[in-house]
Amino acid sequence: MSIRPFEQHTPHIHPTAYVDTAALVIGDVEIGQDSSIWPMSVVRGDIQSIRIGARTSIQDGTIIHVTHDSRFCPGGQPTLIGNDVTVGHKVILHACTIEDFCLIGMGAIVMDKAVVRSRVTIGAGSVVPPGKVLESGFLYVGSPVKQIRPLTERELEFLEYSAQNYQRLKDRHRAMAGSADAASNPAPIKPEVPPATPKPRTRRSATPKHR
Ligand SMILES: CC(C)(COP(=O)(O)OP(=O)(O)OC[C@H]1O[C@@H](n2cnc3c(N)ncnc32)[C@H](O)[C@@H]1OP(=O)(O)O)[C@@H](O)C(=O)NCCC(=O)NCCS
Repeated sequence: MSIRPFEQHTPHIHPTAYVDTAALVIGDVEIGQDSSIWPMSVVRGDIQSIRIGARTSIQDGTIIHVTHDSRFCPGGQPTLIGNDVTVGHKVILHACTIEDFCLIGMGAIVMDKAVVRSRVTIGAGSVVPPGKVLESGFLYVGSPVKQIRPLTERELEFLEYSAQNYQRLKDRHRAMAGSADAASNPAPIKPEVPPATPKPRTRRSATPKHR
């Protein structure tokens, strides 16, 4: 099963959202309208909460977790992800905040208490260190990330396009999931109707009769 409660918390998933059967969502997690969680992603809200807004995609192999309450982190730290965010393949988001219309490049790591303001692109493979705040409207790349330049108009447009594109794609996958259910639970096959009058049996003797 890909959606599991943890202690008193059960994930709340909007009916229009898509959670692939090969993804895992646990505990105190909310997933908003038209968002999507792709295969092999793990969203584990066991020791703090995870909130994912609307039209956000969490792509294959991404891990989202949180930090627990302790004297090292009083109150713990949730992970908050806004609306229209594209989280690329194999990203790690740990106890951080990602605001609306961001693109988190493939394989990036965003660490505790980092805040990515709205409309930021983070290059593939980048690392955002703990507590760092990324300014809205910029491209950040590297490990640790550095601010490279303001995003161009085209790149800003792409952030919106990317969210819409994944919204459409998850609808296609939801449709396929419906037909897969039908394939694994096929309608019963009607038994063949026997002929109304059975054909007379003609029995031939193996050895011809001698008169
Ligand atoms: C960073 C990125 C946006 C490209 O930005 P760009 O300004 O077009 O970069 P360019 O291709 O012009 O390259 C500029 C420099 O940055 C380097 N560079 C590009 N991407 C980089 C990355 N992710 N990390 C480190 N350096 C990178 C290039 O090698 C180039 O270096 P050079 O000047 O020494 O030759 C893009 O490479 C990227 O990482 N996109 C993320 C894509 C993604 O993961 N999408 C999610 C999939 S759904």
